[in-house]
Amino acid sequence: MDAALEKRQVERAYELYAPVYDFIFDWIFAPGRVAAVKHLDIQRGDSVLEVGIGTGLNLPLYPPACRLTGIDLSAEMLDKAVERVQTLAMPNVTLKVMDATSMDFADDEFDKAVATYTISAVPDPVAVLREMRRVVKPGGVLVTLNHFRSERRVMGWLEDLVAPLCTRLGWKSNLALGPLLAAVGLEPEVVARANMFNGWRLVKCVNRK
Ligand SMILES: C[S@@+](CC[C@H](N)C(=O)[O-])C[C@H]1O[C@@H](n2cnc3c(N)ncnc32)[C@H](O)[C@@H]1O
Repeated sequence: MDAALEKRQVERAYELYAPVYDFIFDWIFAPGRVAAVKHLDIQRGDSVLEVGIGTGLNLPLYPPACRLTGIDLSAEMLDKAVERVQTLAMPNVTLKVMDATSMDFADDEFDKAVATYTISAVPDPVAVLREMRRVVKPGGVLVTLNHFRSERRVMGWLEDLVAPLCTRLGWKSNLALGPLLAAVGLEPEVVARANMFNGWRLVKCVNRK
C-alpha cells in the first residue's frame, strides 16, 4: 500500500470521526493530555507547535501567554478546533490544515512541539518526528503521548494480531517506541505512563541538533 493511499485513508477516517471524536475520546484520554502539556513546561512567550491538533481538546490546557500553532491533516477535525478557539476566545492560537510530514514552517521556528495521540495515527511517524525536530530550535522540547507496542510478549503479540484491523480504523496498534526514537535520533529524557491501565506513554525529549 503506498503512502498517498494511506494518507487518503487517514483523511477519510477523521472526516468520519470528527462529529463524534470528543464524545468518545475526551474523558478517556484526559489525564494524559494534562500530563503532556505540563511536561512542555511552557514559559511566557514560548512558541509552541501542536501536531495533529484534531478537534483541539488540549486547547484549554495552554496558558494564554504562549503562542500556539496547531496543524492537522483533516479539515473536518480542524473545523472543530476553530469552533473551540472561538468559544474559548484564544487570540494566541493559529490553526492550519497541513501535512505534518512536510510542514510549511522554517527550521527552528518553535520553542516546543507536542503531539498527543497522533504519532500512531499518521501514515509515516518517522517523517513526522523528523519534521518536528527540524522546526523546533536546538535545545527545545518535544513531547509525544501515545500508545506504543507493549514490550510484554503476549500483549505485544495481541497488538500485532489486531494491527490490520486498527490500520483500517486509522491508527497503528503496534508502533514500537525504541526503534521509532532511534530512527529519528532522539533519546528520551522522560518516559511516563498515562491513562487507563497505564496503557499510554508520554515521552519527553530535548531536541539536540
Ligand atoms: C487520534 S487524533 C488525535 C487528535 C488530538 N491530538 C487529540 O489529542 O485529541 C489524530 C489526529 O492526527 C491527524 N493526522 C493524521 N495524519 C496527519 C498528518 N500527516 N499531518 C497532520 N495531522 C495528521 C488526524 O487528522 C487526527 O486529527
